[in-house]
Amino acid sequence: MHITVVGLGPGDPELITVKGMRAIQAADVIFVPQSRAPAGTASSEGAGASLALRIAEPWIDTDRQTVIELDLPMTRDAARLSTAWRAAADQIALRLVERGAAAQGVYLLLGDPLLYGTFTYIWGELLNHHPTISVAFIPGITSFAAAAAHTQTTLATAADRVAILPASSELDSEQMCRILADFDTVILMKVGTVLPYILSILADLDRLDQAIYAEHVGLPGEYITHDLRSLQLQGQQRPYLSLVIVRR
Ligand SMILES: C[S@@+](CC[C@H](N)C(=O)[O-])C[C@H]1O[C@@H](n2cnc3c(N)ncnc32)[C@H](O)[C@@H]1O
Repeated sequence: MHITVVGLGPGDPELITVKGMRAIQAADVIFVPQSRAPAGTASSEGAGASLALRIAEPWIDTDRQTVIELDLPMTRDAARLSTAWRAAADQIALRLVERGAAAQGVYLLLGDPLLYGTFTYIWGELLNHHPTISVAFIPGITSFAAAAAHTQTTLATAADRVAILPASSELDSEQMCRILADFDTVILMKVGTVLPYILSILADLDRLDQAIYAEHVGLPGEYITHDLRSLQLQGQQRPYLSLVIVRR
């Protein structure tokens, strides 16, 4: 039994790789994360299974293929998370066993599978509890690569240094100052709920004019701007699928 983890890219179905598309078409069972956040939180939209399914839909034949949604809550509760990861691994194993030893599964997710991807957690559970299932990865175009292409932003040249990090309220102005001094390009993922805070730090450091903000890249509602000053004036949290790139 085998599962291929396919990075779907940022959202535009045309940015799925040819290899990823072929793996999706060849699969018997298609697994997608169903990521739920508590209702009403800014992160409760944009990360659901329907999104991965919608992106891959042109390449799925539901008469021939089984689609399984795996419940992966968006929470920091370690016990709930580890229960969910184990349950997802067991579900994958069960569904593949049902299809027989030659069963081919795919697990679909946004961007690249190995960059903050949900499968990395399930992978450990599969290795520990279902070691006969082999795993392969097909890379995907990351959200920040798509945002850079869209805005014609050079991410790095020559000896430039690039940092990728999750934005968080634990990142204080001093740390941000150090990171911005050490790296030519800084990519802040998961900025949605902490955007006002991140923008206030960038304003303090006088770096607002060197940054871009990108939300729902390649998806309905795409919003990409260089005007971070206006965003700062709005002072609002933004959706989960959003990022900031700061370039020297
Ligand atoms: C769990 S991480 C997944 C990253 C993904 N594996 C990738 O390679 O881009 C989720 C974060 O990725 C970024 N992201 C993913 N898709 C995006 C999109 N279409 N538009 C903007 N940001 C996106 C956001 O920063 C979001 O908070």
